[in-house]
Amino acid sequence: MNFTNKNVVISGGSQGIGLATAKAFVQQGAHVLITGRNPETLQKAAEAIDNPNLQTLAADTSNLNGITVLEKWVVESGKKVDVLFLNAAIGVYAPIQHVTEADFDAQFNTNVKGHFFTLQRLIPHLAEGASVIFTSSGVASAAGIASSVYSATKAALNKIADIAVNELAERKIRVNIISPGPIQTPGLLTVASHEVQDYLASRSALQRLGNAEEVANTVLFLASDAAGYINGADIAVDGGSIQYMLK
Ligand SMILES: NC(=O)c1ccc[n+]([C@@H]2O[C@H](COP(=O)([O-])OP(=O)(O)OC[C@H]3O[C@@H](n4cnc5c(N)ncnc54)[C@H](OP(=O)(O)O)[C@@H]3O)[C@@H](O)[C@H]2O)c1
Repeated sequence: MNFTNKNVVISGGSQGIGLATAKAFVQQGAHVLITGRNPETLQKAAEAIDNPNLQTLAADTSNLNGITVLEKWVVESGKKVDVLFLNAAIGVYAPIQHVTEADFDAQFNTNVKGHFFTLQRLIPHLAEGASVIFTSSGVASAAGIASSVYSATKAALNKIADIAVNELAERKIRVNIISPGPIQTPGLLTVASHEVQDYLASRSALQRLGNAEEVANTVLFLASDAAGYINGADIAVDGGSIQYMLK
C-alpha cells in the first residue's frame, strides 16, 4: 500500500493503536498529524517515529475548543485530508450503580461528541474520495458487566458512522468502522490486570490478545484504494470470537 503524499489525521495518535497506525502510514509515505492531550506523550511518539512526515498537535478533542485547534491546523496546512482516523477514546469501568456523572460525561464527550464534531468540522476539508475510519469496539454489540457507558459510547459512534456513510457518499468519501477486540496497548494494560488480560485472551478463538500493529494494518487497508468498494463496513479485528468456535 502506497500513501505517498497522502494527508492523514489521527485523533488519539500518541500511543497504542493510534501510534501504531501513524507509524504504518508514515512508513508508506504519508504525511501524518496525530493529536492527543498530553504534550509529553506526543513528544515521545514523535521521537519513536522520528520522521519529518509526522507532526503532532496537543488538542483535547472531547470539546469544541480542542476541535477548533485541530480545524485551524488543518486549514493552515492548506491541504485536504485524505484519511481521517477518529480513534481517541477513554474507558471507565463500573457497574451502573457506581457510574458518576463525571465519568459518564467524560466518556461520551471523548468517544462520541468529540468524533461527531471533529468529523463535522473537517468535512469541508476532506478530499474528494477521502476515507474516514472510526475506531469502535466489539463491546458495541456486547453486554459486558461494568461497561455500560463505554459500550454505549461505541454503539452511538457506530450509528453516527452509519449515517455519515450515506451523507458523505456524494463526495465519494468512504466511511468505515474497525472494531478491535482486546489489544495490547497502554490503554488496555492500565485498566486490565494480568488475570483480566488472560481472560480476555481466552475469549478470542486465537487465544491471545491482539497487537496494535494488527489493527493498524486493517486501518491502512481500509484507507487504501484496495478497499475502494468497502463502505459502511464494520471490521472486527479480534482474533475471532470464541462463541463462534465449533467444538
Ligand atoms: N486496546 C483495546 O483493547 C481496545 C479494544 C477495542 C477498542 N479499542 C479502541 O481503540 C482506540 C484506541 O485504543 P488504545 O487502546 O490504543 O488507547 P490508548 O492506549 O489509551 O490511547 C488512546 C489515545 O487517545 C488519546 N486521547 C484520549 N482522550 C483524548 C482526547 N480527549 N483528545 C485527544 N486525544 C485523546 C490518548 O492521548 P492522551 O491521553 O494524551 O490524550 C492516546 O493517544 C479507542 O477508541 C479504544 O476505545 C481499544
